[in-house]
Amino acid sequence: MAHKDIRWLYLDFFQKQSHKIYDSMPLVPDDASLLFTNAGMVQFKDIFTGKIPIPTPPRATSSQLCIRAGGKHNDLENVGYTARHHTLFEMLGNFSFGDYFKKDAIAYAWEFVTKTLGFDKSLLYVTIHESDDEAYTLWCEHIAPERIKRMGDKDNFWQMGDSGPCGPCSEIYVDQGEKYFHSSEDYFGGEGDRFLEIWNLVFMQYEQKEGIRTPLPKPSIDTGMGLERVVALLEKKINNFDTSLFAPLMRQIENLTHKKYYHDDEVFDNVMGFSDAQIVETKKIQASFRVIADHARSVAFLLAQGVNFDKEGRGYVLRRILRRAVRHGYLLGLQKPFLYEVIGVVCEEMGGHYGYLLERKNAIKEQCRNEEERFFETIESGMELFSKELQKLLGLLSKDKTLRFSGEVAFKLYDTYGFPLDLTQDMLREYHIEVDMASFDQCMNAQKSRSKASWKGSGDALKEGDFNELLAVFGKNTFVGYESTKASSRILALLDSDFKRVASLQSGEIGYVMLENTPFYPESGGPVGDKGELFKPSHQSAGEILAKVLDTQKYFDLNLSHIEVLAALKEGDFVQANVSDERNEIAKHHSATHLLHRSLRKILGSHIAQAGSLVESNRLRFDFSHPKALSFEELESIEHDVNAQILAGNPQMCEIMSIDEAKKKGAMALFGEKYGERVRVVSFGDSIELCGGIHTPNTAQIGSFYITKESGVSSGVRRIEAVCGAAAYEYGKMALREIHKAKESLKAQNLTQGIEKLKEHISELKQKVAKAKQSVKSFDYEEVAGVKLIVLKIDSLNSSEVKEIVDKAKNENERVAILLLTESKGISIVAGVKNAPLKAGEWVKQVASVLGGNGGGRDDFATAGGKDASKISEALDLARSIAKEKLQD
Ligand code: ALA
Repeated sequence: MAHKDIRWLYLDFFQKQSHKIYDSMPLVPDDASLLFTNAGMVQFKDIFTGKIPIPTPPRATSSQLCIRAGGKHNDLENVGYTARHHTLFEMLGNFSFGDYFKKDAIAYAWEFVTKTLGFDKSLLYVTIHESDDEAYTLWCEHIAPERIKRMGDKDNFWQMGDSGPCGPCSEIYVDQGEKYFHSSEDYFGGEGDRFLEIWNLVFMQYEQKEGIRTPLPKPSIDTGMGLERVVALLEKKINNFDTSLFAPLMRQIENLTHKKYYHDDEVFDNVMGFSDAQIVETKKIQASFRVIADHARSVAFLLAQGVNFDKEGRGYVLRRILRRAVRHGYLLGLQKPFLYEVIGVVCEEMGGHYGYLLERKNAIKEQCRNEEERFFETIESGMELFSKELQKLLGLLSKDKTLRFSGEVAFKLYDTYGFPLDLTQDMLREYHIEVDMASFDQCMNAQKSRSKASWKGSGDALKEGDFNELLAVFGKNTFVGYESTKASSRILALLDSDFKRVASLQSGEIGYVMLENTPFYPESGGPVGDKGELFKPSHQSAGEILAKVLDTQKYFDLNLSHIEVLAALKEGDFVQANVSDERNEIAKHHSATHLLHRSLRKILGSHIAQAGSLVESNRLRFDFSHPKALSFEELESIEHDVNAQILAGNPQMCEIMSIDEAKKKGAMALFGEKYGERVRVVSFGDSIELCGGIHTPNTAQIGSFYITKESGVSSGVRRIEAVCGAAAYEYGKMALREIHKAKESLKAQNLTQGIEKLKEHISELKQKVAKAKQSVKSFDYEEVAGVKLIVLKIDSLNSSEVKEIVDKAKNENERVAILLLTESKGISIVAGVKNAPLKAGEWVKQVASVLGGNGGGRDDFATAGGKDASKISEALDLARSIAKEKLQD
């Protein structure tokens, strides 16, 4: 049986039991409390807790990609050293939402394991929670009582994170036999690997919030079975990395490193006839292969799903994973980027099921290679520093066993050489040495307080806010602003600036308001949040203004507006809420972002994936994956294509449909965005996207669209900045105004002639600069005490052109003192000195003072400005005499 068939066998088995098959949700969940999707149940957690209604059928099944690196379930440090830990794996699961419970969950699992997968019953064991008599009785129908073991919370109670649905669980184990397992822990219930857990059935009964467990409205089922483990058992491999799932990756790493990868059974049986030392070495090589293979999968999927390398958050976890892999490549002797080549194989191997891997293969390989290159620049020096410190420590350790690896060095490795702390800890693992965390933290804190000025705050206020209370009392508030920018509403709650609930806010205070029906759209993805005003409701035209709305954001499902209070507000008040007119311009830029996205995919290719965006009332920014800078021609065609969509006057079509229908329609969905069962699809002509935001009614209202800048954000990610609507008109007007001015000063008859003249002018100037540069050699000079002294006035060049000439003179002469003066928009003086006893900074300062100006700079290079043109020749004379005096000294 091929491994991918198991995925289908599973989904098919449960589909036949009336379960609906769900796609794997994005690895980045729409939930700030969770770093990555770490279990199959994450996409269903709001159903378990009753936040969203139970779907029909109330049963689901999925094969979910999970990442367990960082956060509550973190396996990163174990990967490579155990037979079954991964940072990324696939979890097969079946779920019941208040439908069947323990009895059926156990019966289904038993049938699938014994009949469909065909495991020998005599090899199976189960554990249950120590308090779960019901599960015990149910299991006794399938398996002998002595094969059932009761365990405590540590092993048999499952929770997603510190909060969320949770419950006691029951696990199914397979005995792998004693051939390769004879440690004292290899008994059923022990820590050894002989009895391998393959399936966890969680009986969801509680919801945990702030340490308190409350019963869930309807007990439910959540199960998880690791695909990689099952494949290993079926292929009779004692290590997941030895299965057919990983074989193509291992082959690729063999090709890159010219080293051989042995399977665990080969090593244990020593089929190679190796000495003990060779076996030790082989095991190290195995570990490095496994780390690289595992990490290549995580990096490939995270990049493909739009996570980028970053200094913090999820992007930093991604960076840590990559750096750990690179370090293992380095241990295997690789000196240049290689992981991207393994990632290519991941894309080919897994692209059949996860099509986006193939679509984005080239772009993510490029992104990975660039990031690897950066780390390879510092890894060698970092490893040297590490080894030196380690050697020192190993010497001392024989005397003092309590010594730790220096926290300062670990910090330096982190700060200067880019070694994440856990990488350093990982490197110390085999020596059983720990980092001195107290001194590491001290260094880190010192650095943080140094950079506090640029720090945005720790977000602690957010963690301690009264959001749960508001959710419990009021539930989510309603957004009513798609059609209208005005609404009258009751104030459900007020919060102070620390997000603590208050009964009222006084004039002059800053806080947050939760309106029952709010017309303010919160910031989401790209578009900034709505601003506006709250008024006293009045039948006459304008009531008294009560508060300014500065911004609107979503906090834990609540739509809250940030307000500056002008007249006291209290809970329960009715207000008239008006969104500011800026909203229209934000909507235009938002719609233009959709059109741009479509044009990019049309012109550059379907590998384009949105990597971030910012939408304001007067500009937009769109980041996307693409391996190289865009050419002028590409930018022109993109701009043209967006404008064609605008001119077509496509009306906005907004439909709510099922996610499957939306996909069929070809709607573009963003990774990292969580979409419910029913989704909102916004289309303008053939631009079709899943989007909850606010848009312009017709593309024609966007007016026109100009790309103002194209740049790189990080490796493999480009950024386009653009304007449309009123801002585009301003942009065009500004450009024309400048050309007009040029036309006037060039005395051209019309704009076209003006532009022609301007071009001629520019090319003349360029020639002049080129000539001046060439003529540095022919400049008049005096030789003073072995130094070439040049003091000259140059015409028609601006100061940056003059700087270039000064640089050139310095490059071409061994000993030189040059001061050039030019008149364009005031007087500029530029001086350079090389190997001569004259300080350029002081020189220009004295000369500038004659001209009524000032300036200064370094000893070898300085600039200054002046105003009084009538003193130019006096200034040049002074420049010469100062120089001569100093040079002759
Ligand atoms: N959610 C359970 C687990 O991850 C099934 O083990």
